[in-house]
Amino acid sequence: LVAGVDSSTQSCKIVVRDAETGALVRSGSAKHPDGTSVDPRFWWDAFLEAAQKAGGLADVAALAVGGQQHGMVALDAQGNVVRDALLWNDTRSAQAAEDLIVELGEGDRAAGAQAWADAVGSVLVASLTITKLRWLRDAEPENAARVAAVALPHDWLSWRIAGYGPEGDPTAPLGPQLDKLFTDASDASGTGYYDAQATSGDGYRRDLLALAFGRDDVVLPRVIGSTESGAVAHATIAGDGAALIGPGAGDNAGAAIGLGMQPGDIAISIGTSGVVSAVAPRRTQDGTGAINGFADCTGNALMLAVTLNAAQVLDAARSVLDADFGKLADLALAAPAGSDGLVLVPYLQGERTPNRPNASGTLHGIRLKNMTQAHVARAYIEGMLCGLADGMDALRALDVPVERVMLIGGAAQSPAVQEIAPQIFGLPISIPEPGEYVADGAARQAAWVLASATLGAEAPQPAWATKMSKTLPANPVPVVREQYAAVRDLV
Ligand code: XUL
Repeated sequence: LVAGVDSSTQSCKIVVRDAETGALVRSGSAKHPDGTSVDPRFWWDAFLEAAQKAGGLADVAALAVGGQQHGMVALDAQGNVVRDALLWNDTRSAQAAEDLIVELGEGDRAAGAQAWADAVGSVLVASLTITKLRWLRDAEPENAARVAAVALPHDWLSWRIAGYGPEGDPTAPLGPQLDKLFTDASDASGTGYYDAQATSGDGYRRDLLALAFGRDDVVLPRVIGSTESGAVAHATIAGDGAALIGPGAGDNAGAAIGLGMQPGDIAISIGTSGVVSAVAPRRTQDGTGAINGFADCTGNALMLAVTLNAAQVLDAARSVLDADFGKLADLALAAPAGSDGLVLVPYLQGERTPNRPNASGTLHGIRLKNMTQAHVARAYIEGMLCGLADGMDALRALDVPVERVMLIGGAAQSPAVQEIAPQIFGLPISIPEPGEYVADGAARQAAWVLASATLGAEAPQPAWATKMSKTLPANPVPVVREQYAAVRDLV
């Protein structure tokens, strides 16, 4: 058996699967406090609770941890957390990001943006770890001075599972041992101080870390290969069977393995944020900042566009129409494609792709014939999907192959989204079977690690991945995006 863990912003989910067939054997989950600045020890407690609910991990031979990307887990020389972790959704370092862009460009912002994209694959935004370290240096110099190591959420959890760290006695920890921290390329690539495509050295850009933090003498987790094991789980977690701990992954890269994404596939996730991600042979260097060039877990690049207006747009439509999800779908399906010219540009909280942090949305083209609840419902869904389609176009503009869409997130189950998405994306759309794609991806990675350890690195890897429940044929209706684009460019 293998286990996959998803330590997300809200909760910890664990799946236990058969290593050979991928069949789900058991699962468990536990919530923990969320927010933007959180004590990592909550993640550890949630992990222990989820493991217990999943029937324990004593019988697993390997496990791997996927986690929310970018969070800054700063540790002191004894392995204590220095302060609450600043997470991907914490924006206090927005100014630090701007400052670092201008500094690398020696006063020229555009040159600096391109220089960051060239160096690490992404133009800096507040999400990236390096901006949080700059913020810490300036805002909390005493804490900054205590930092001896910087880990990401999933690295820290893997390290705790291995029995390291001074607190949380339930596992009888072995001691701090900062040099035992390890990570994988996908999560390291979201720090802003790691270059997944470096041809020499270990990929860390300590010069950039020094630029941001004023020091480069901190321990950074060792980046291990996709089928390597970084440690063995502590006996109190996984019994005496010496369960291997795989490299783990950032959550988006974990989901890519869980879904079995190949170059040409893009995953579109309608969640708190809308994420459009693609696996590509190499990352491109997008100096506009629309696309983050991260790494995936298999040696490819994971190109990511993030919109800030996804599931909340549907929530807003429900509130305007006083409708539940079922009624919203029924209403939207009663209006024609294009909503008779009623167009929503859904920048309800600014936008990240395209980069318009201060924009507001607009409802445009009101006429007597389209002032019905059905037209409003359809316009909201069309507008939200057009925003995601803009992210898809940003990928295309960088020559990332885009051939098939996998649509995920709760809203993907809506009959209205399933009718409208093939019209707007103009591509075949696969809807995966419901699952915990990040935890499933981590479990799949654990199966690779186990196969490599038992059969050798050249052994064929277990091939299981999430199955698709249905595929919807492409049904392009270009007018919907055309009228959206005309209004978007007025905003
Ligand atoms: C990606 C990002 C989010 C987090 C969510 O850049 O910030 O998707 O990984 O957990």
